[in-house]
Amino acid sequence: MRATTHKTLLSSVLIALAALFSHAASAVKSPGLADTPPMGWNSWNHFDCEINEQIIRDTADAMVESGMKDAGYEYINIDDCWHDERDAQGVIQPSKAHFPSGMKVLADYVHKKGLKLGIYSDAGATTCAGRPGSRGHEYQDALTYAHWGIDYVKYDWCNTENINPIGAYTTMRDAIHASGRPMLLSICEWGDNKPWDWATDIGHAWRTTGDIYPCWDCEFSHGSWSSWGVLRILDKQDGLRKYAGPGHWNDMDMLEVGNGMTADEDRAHFSIWAMLASPLIAGNDLRTMSEQTRQILTNRDIIALNQDALGIQAMKYIDEGDLEIWVKPLAGGDWGFMFLNRADIAQKYRHDWRAHLVKDDISNHQIDFAQTTFHWRDLWQGREGDTRKPLAAEIPAHGVVVLRLTPVD
Ligand code: GLA
Repeated sequence: MRATTHKTLLSSVLIALAALFSHAASAVKSPGLADTPPMGWNSWNHFDCEINEQIIRDTADAMVESGMKDAGYEYINIDDCWHDERDAQGVIQPSKAHFPSGMKVLADYVHKKGLKLGIYSDAGATTCAGRPGSRGHEYQDALTYAHWGIDYVKYDWCNTENINPIGAYTTMRDAIHASGRPMLLSICEWGDNKPWDWATDIGHAWRTTGDIYPCWDCEFSHGSWSSWGVLRILDKQDGLRKYAGPGHWNDMDMLEVGNGMTADEDRAHFSIWAMLASPLIAGNDLRTMSEQTRQILTNRDIIALNQDALGIQAMKYIDEGDLEIWVKPLAGGDWGFMFLNRADIAQKYRHDWRAHLVKDDISNHQIDFAQTTFHWRDLWQGREGDTRKPLAAEIPAHGVVVLRLTPVD
């Protein structure tokens, strides 16, 4: 009897140990969550710290009613400032004043709408806004998030002096894995430690730059750091396209569509993010957005460029100073073409398709317009044509013309 008990005990211990080791060895990021760039909404760009559960519920309602959910948006992400202090056992608490019903109830609400809920933390002891970070509480926090039903973790990099970024983000990945609930891990360390070199197996996307600012081409100084306009962020993507692909994306930061730029600037901003396969995370107030903003955010043809199955980030193909042409190989032999006018005045542009060979050595796609004719459709204005005749386009100031090319057989 006693021997049997011992044997049982011993085998349980061995099984537990084996499970522990195989678990540690097999910790991976949650599979299949970002085969195409993540799409959703995040509270930070518009609401900053002024968030509460009613805003989150109303935003989930608005995502459905506006048609954004049908267009592909999925995540409702709560950014910084949702927290109170930890309890005596170290368990993180949502703010009793602003999230009185608790996160589980909120997650249930969002899930009932067919959407997913994201949350925010930081690898340091405190977040960028000074709330409790996850340092030393990673496994505890991941378990708490799993218990609440969280689907997405944005993990920031403030107050991380003397922490190794690869270690810190790997720990959170492993903590999520150990929690047993799949969660998308969005790495937010602003490109400081070149995450494209090491994060492919750790996170589903990594921020490549500091924070965005709703302007076309400005640097907004906060003293010790700066936020960046649309073109500034675009220019910082140089050399990074080879690192992006299904499951691991260069994140150009959350969208500022509807947050104060002109309609042409918003269309350009949205098109650039779509072409460069960045996550499309809206950052405006969905409850009160204008019809124009709604139409920009739900342009399905532009979204289709972003969500294309090949997952190839666009390449800058022609650079004429104020005028740039970006191309994106798409599934089925199609291509996205974006004519970007960086200048303050509209430009008339004539593009002779046959004068240039398109050759992408990274993804191994090319076009010889002398061999293949393409039909094109203008994804903002609806015009159509083909590549036998040169394109005559008028590109608005701070604007784009975006075409989808389909081979004619
Ligand atoms: C950092 C991030 C932002 C936002 C804020 C919150 O600046 O880069 O996206 O999450 O922190 O404090």
